[in-house]
Amino acid sequence: MKDMSDFYDLLIQQAEALIGGVPYPTANYANLSALLYQSLPEINWAGFYFIQDGKLVLGPFQGKPACIEIEIGKGVCGTAVFRNETQVVKNVHEFPGHIACDGASMSEIVIPIHRIGAIIGVLDIDSPVEGRFKEDDRLGLEKLISVIEKHIL
Ligand code: SME
Repeated sequence: MKDMSDFYDLLIQQAEALIGGVPYPTANYANLSALLYQSLPEINWAGFYFIQDGKLVLGPFQGKPACIEIEIGKGVCGTAVFRNETQVVKNVHEFPGHIACDGASMSEIVIPIHRIGAIIGVLDIDSPVEGRFKEDDRLGLEKLISVIEKHIL
């Protein structure tokens, strides 16, 4: 849908304006989580997990406090890392091993983040609406992440 690609192109411009030339990864991921949380309708959590000590560890986010550690291969986030591919979950209650951080969450999208070709973490977004994340959202958010990968060291 043209409208959605326009929406994500604008979001990407805003993200680049926020993080371009800023040499502080934590500040950049914190601002990106705020931008996503404020910009995307019908979401209740947006943030990052990064691989540390062989597991995913909570990074900058917006929303309710979340679980700190996730094993690779567990939950939606750990599955995205294990498979090294985006996970779009229409109904989290039907996802085996889903880790519930906010009881209101109904659907979720998790996108891998890479540095020099290796996976380093994920962007995780939750929604209280079943089936919130469509193909347009996957494409737009994957494009956003590919731009972020070029900016953040
Ligand atoms: N639901 C995720 C856990 C992280 S929270 O949604 C913030 C999962 O199953 O991996």
